[in-house]
Amino acid sequence: MIKPYAIRNITVQPGLVLSPMSGVTTRAFRRLIKESNPGAVGLVVSEFVSVEGMTRGSRRTLEMMRFSEDERPFCVQIFGYDVDRMRDAALMVQDSGADVVDINCGCPAPKVVKRGGGCELMRQPSHLLQIVREVRKAVSIPLTLKMRSGWDDGTRNALELSKMVVSEGVEALAVHGRTRAQLYRGEADWSIVESIAETVSVPVLGSGDVVDRRSAEARLTGKVAGLFIGRASIWNPLVFREIVSGTPSALKGNEPLMLSLLFRYADLLREDFPESSCAGKLKQLASQMCRGAPWRKQLLTLNSLGEQLRLLELVRNGDFPGAANTPTFPTINDESDYQSFQHQDPS
Ligand SMILES: Cc1cc2nc3c(=O)[nH]c(=O)nc-3n(C[C@H](O)[C@H](O)[C@H](O)COP(=O)(O)O)c2cc1C
Repeated sequence: MIKPYAIRNITVQPGLVLSPMSGVTTRAFRRLIKESNPGAVGLVVSEFVSVEGMTRGSRRTLEMMRFSEDERPFCVQIFGYDVDRMRDAALMVQDSGADVVDINCGCPAPKVVKRGGGCELMRQPSHLLQIVREVRKAVSIPLTLKMRSGWDDGTRNALELSKMVVSEGVEALAVHGRTRAQLYRGEADWSIVESIAETVSVPVLGSGDVVDRRSAEARLTGKVAGLFIGRASIWNPLVFREIVSGTPSALKGNEPLMLSLLFRYADLLREDFPESSCAGKLKQLASQMCRGAPWRKQLLTLNSLGEQLRLLELVRNGDFPGAANTPTFPTINDESDYQSFQHQDPS
């Protein structure tokens, strides 16, 4: 059901992409998703990486570009405003060995748009074009761009911008069907994704509210080449393979599977982060994925990875005090619950 698409010489097979999520799609999370969904994730994208940090040599920022060979094809998304820094950062992405570089034109966070980056670029088309031109001239790897439908209801200019950036050499587009003003409220408007896909000559991917096979089928219409999946991967890290296979959620009520995902995630986190940062990241996944589990609340109170793992061991061995209570897991693909997970505005 999910066909592949190609960004120049790179085949994205199937056309399902792990959407970039700041603070979430680290190397550890991307690897968890890739290995939990064998053959079902066509492309993974880094968190957005600041061109200011990159070009000033910030170690923490550069670390965000690190990837493993088994993640390929791998795309690094950059954000910023300054043309020279965007170009230099894109070159750094190319030198790092990544397969694709993506320009962020969708971030709504005040901290980012106030400095001219993210969705603000959609309000400055001539500046955006200058960035695209310079980056295009500088790098030989495929160049893609992710945007929103527009700034607000009065300025839904994604179609117009798509034509412009494609004519300057952007080779695939991802469109999140919400405006900047909407943030993550309401429903994504997929009609704009479809009309862009009808119009431009490059693959157009849609983003927004794909949570399961049903919602994937409903949105993969017309010439839309594929789907970006963001928040649903935190709710249900197996969402990719479930969309591909058409099987219902394997995680629902499946405590051993949840535990194995959490233990594996802890191992992957430890490879990349100090212990002190791992606990927060494990909680981020558990708070979404383990709704309904009797031990979830307690897990979320623990601020060290060691303590968290001890608690999960108790659960695994059946020694958690509440273990006698049968967990009542909600349907994790319930779209209305899903809407409640809002982007934590980093500003
Ligand atoms: C926590 C969080 C962080 C995000 N960070 C980024 C980002 O760094 N770059 C980007 O292009 N989009 C980012 N997004 C937007 C997602 O990639 C995606 O377009 C949006 O969440 C809608 O898709 P979904 O309904 O599948 O989550 C972020 C979203 C969330 C929830």
